[in-house]
Amino acid sequence: MYTGSYKCLELFARPVGEQKGFVSIIADDGGEMERRELEHLYGNWLRIPVAEDTAYQVELKDAEVTLAYLSDTEDILDTGICILDAENGFEEMDEVQFREFIQSSYREKYHFSPVINWMNDPNGLCWYQGYYHMFYQFNPFGQEWNNMYWGHAASTDLVHWKHLPVVLEPQKEILDNLQIKGGAFSGSALAGENEARFWLTRHIGPHEDGEETVQYQTEMRSSDMIHFSEERTIIKEKPEGTNFDFRDPKAGKFGDEWYLVLGACVNGKGTFLLYESQDQENWTYKCPLLTENESIRTIECPDFFPLDGKYVAMGAWMNHYDEEGRFQMSRYYIGNWEGADLQIESEQWVDFGSNCYAVQSFCHEGRRIAIGWISDFYGEHIAVKNGAYGSMTLPRELHVRENRVYTQPVKEVYDLKDKLLYSGKENALKLENIPDNCYYAKISGEMQGDFSILLGKDKDKTICLKAEGGTLFLKTSGVKSEAIRFVSSVRNFKNAEIFVDGRTVEVYLNDGEDVGTKLFYNSQTEGCFELASRELLQVEIYTMKSIW
Ligand code: FRU
Repeated sequence: MYTGSYKCLELFARPVGEQKGFVSIIADDGGEMERRELEHLYGNWLRIPVAEDTAYQVELKDAEVTLAYLSDTEDILDTGICILDAENGFEEMDEVQFREFIQSSYREKYHFSPVINWMNDPNGLCWYQGYYHMFYQFNPFGQEWNNMYWGHAASTDLVHWKHLPVVLEPQKEILDNLQIKGGAFSGSALAGENEARFWLTRHIGPHEDGEETVQYQTEMRSSDMIHFSEERTIIKEKPEGTNFDFRDPKAGKFGDEWYLVLGACVNGKGTFLLYESQDQENWTYKCPLLTENESIRTIECPDFFPLDGKYVAMGAWMNHYDEEGRFQMSRYYIGNWEGADLQIESEQWVDFGSNCYAVQSFCHEGRRIAIGWISDFYGEHIAVKNGAYGSMTLPRELHVRENRVYTQPVKEVYDLKDKLLYSGKENALKLENIPDNCYYAKISGEMQGDFSILLGKDKDKTICLKAEGGTLFLKTSGVKSEAIRFVSSVRNFKNAEIFVDGRTVEVYLNDGEDVGTKLFYNSQTEGCFELASRELLQVEIYTMKSIW
């Protein structure tokens, strides 16, 4: 490895076998510079200062490294970390090598995903001093949920992201004891002019959640988004009737007051708890903002914000199946609010594809921008070497119109449209061999008739967008979710914007009246678009550029 302008080597290392593991850094002249014992059983985040423009070797004894990168350079928000190939001499990778390293037919090309391994919820979304920041729930050690770290990325346009150093790790007790789990759970941020503040949940408890599970809320700060303060506990006491599900603080400022909502289970019901503060320091519990009567374990990742003259609450429904068989959807509620509970006027699913959970929003220059975790609750993931399990939806701009939340990709997404593949009016159209299975399609035509569009085909597995008898839905077959119809609440079709990107399909209906995200693990590297319709539809199809 050659350090270039970087001054820190970060390794995620864990012991293998019975012995204590060791990691040694050897300088070019052969002298051992540093030898670190792997003190934690679960995982060790080593941050080792290195000299610039210097070659080093890394040697492992009874240890494995799952993620390695160089950090600490002047302009890291623009350059990002330098990712090292831990299996090949910790060689640094340039952009081309990195694209090859993560290359698979499944991995998205224009949706955000972590360098490798597991991610879930977006956290701490904000804009600060010229950059959008996205933090996320991250497991650097594998392609499965486990003890939680915060990953981090930054962007100047919401579309092209630079991977940044990991920000938070699980508590020491968790790293030392494989019988317990937890870590830095989800949270949010508010950015001021010279400082951003973060609120998050710390979780610690047995593998099975129960009365011994402890969740409490902390705050931390940063003025450069690279260095972060120690966390300070801000909310530990739970309102009466609240069980161990008590998490995911989402802060907002409306008028002169700061508010924070927490997802909780109170007296057996999924609840948004409302807190307020005059100084961002001291938080007082006010009341339940909203109590859900449907049978769910808890609300997770709540959000709450003013939009277009109304107030909107959004939250993820844990352990819930809807009547279509869809598992763990996110719901939005629109209403009026005067400082206490939300007077709900309408509500609906955030995303009819149901592979979208823990949606978080933030406001920048008047735009309410939301990003969701592309979740896989039907167990359809296919693990590949250097794969990522989890990715983010396209950034979406939200609006309230006619008592619905309208959701459209932010305008920057359209800059990724590349070559026009087709434009015209058709009722039957077959496009095959779409490079990289990566495309954007728009279909329009106010019509009643049925249609079906094949959006992905992998031997006997398929995914289609269908209109049947006025109902619009996504439908998979040959995969685990095939028994489920991913039905939209939209009845009258006007248009659809379709984004296909490796394993991810996002469909925006009627200028954002509804959106559906569905995973479809496609081993084919070329995509297809096959339309069969009773009536003529205007069709436009473009390839999409990669963001990496
Ligand atoms: C939602 C969630 C959050 C929690 C986090 C843990 O997906 O369960 O409630 O903070 O994930 O990773």
